[in-house]
Amino acid sequence: MSKTPRILLIGSDGQVGWELRRTLAPVGQVIAASLAGEAGPAIDLVDASSVRKVFNDAEPDAVVNAAAYTAVDTAETESELARAINADALHLISELASAARVPVMHYSTDFVFSGQTDRPYREDDTPAPMSVYGQTKLDGERALLEADVDALVLRTAWVYGVRGRNFMLTMRNLFRERTELRIVDDQVGTPTWSRMLAEVSALILHRVFTGDLQMDRIRGLYHVTSAGATSWYGFAEAIREASGSDCKLTPIPTTEYPAPAKRPAYSVLDTTKFRETFGLTLPDWRQSLELCLADAPASG
Ligand SMILES: NC(=O)c1ccc[n+]([C@@H]2O[C@H](COP(=O)([O-])OP(=O)(O)OC[C@H]3O[C@@H](n4cnc5c(N)ncnc54)[C@H](OP(=O)(O)O)[C@@H]3O)[C@@H](O)[C@H]2O)c1
Repeated sequence: MSKTPRILLIGSDGQVGWELRRTLAPVGQVIAASLAGEAGPAIDLVDASSVRKVFNDAEPDAVVNAAAYTAVDTAETESELARAINADALHLISELASAARVPVMHYSTDFVFSGQTDRPYREDDTPAPMSVYGQTKLDGERALLEADVDALVLRTAWVYGVRGRNFMLTMRNLFRERTELRIVDDQVGTPTWSRMLAEVSALILHRVFTGDLQMDRIRGLYHVTSAGATSWYGFAEAIREASGSDCKLTPIPTTEYPAPAKRPAYSVLDTTKFRETFGLTLPDWRQSLELCLADAPASG
């Protein structure tokens, strides 16, 4: 592609979207669309006419969708809204991208699985979501993967970063206020830094634009997280150690921390397909956490 590619980034205000604005900048001209419309056009995935307008005005060479309804517990009672954003909107995005013959990169979640396993989940394992959020995200994946569109669906997990609502920032704030915390120790997954995810996304998209990767060969579903695994308690301990806090952490079972939405007990994702297809290294979660914390403002 000789002209500068135009990338329509939907959800540019979210944890991952905010990092994508930075990592996609050298890859092409980023049209940063968000609900608030602060850095570019306003887009509401619930409103089909706004999606069509932003898409048509942007004339994109690729779409990256980082927007989602991510409030896992609230989704149990706001299922229609979660479905509209996480599933229905993906039918429209795939229809528009298919007609324009442009690729779509999209993110999904480990919550599509039930967590009743003892080995990392592969892309061909059967999903069995236990929550409205997980079900709507699965339906969104399928809307893209079953359509006639060049889609890359990246399933990730336990996303954190210096911005947004996430476990790492919540823990850092609690360590300042509390001397003791009880943290769930029987849910195991892989903490994944939003910036790392945004970086690998940009590297892939760049290779798609240069023709180094052909979408008809690579389209499909991939698992992308950091390497390794831990529990929420293990993640909290690592954040505590790095923060120099002396807050006392006590491991507890999920049964002692009831929440409206059920979570998978074990949702480690096997990233072999991603690493082999794209030749990329996914750093250990502790290494990424260290780098992220070095960037996080002390009062964040
Ligand atoms: N966070 C995790 O732990 C996690 C784990 C696995 C997979 N994922 C997936 O990774 C992707 C990125 O997640 P994230 O952590 O960056 O989520 P996030 O921080 O919650 O960002 C999602 C963004 O979507 C926007 N949005 C919500 N409703 C919208 C609508 N109707 N129209 C347009 N935009 C809307 C939100 O705007 P407002 O903030 O203004 O509402 C927010 O900026 C999502 O697909 C998510 O499902 C996340």
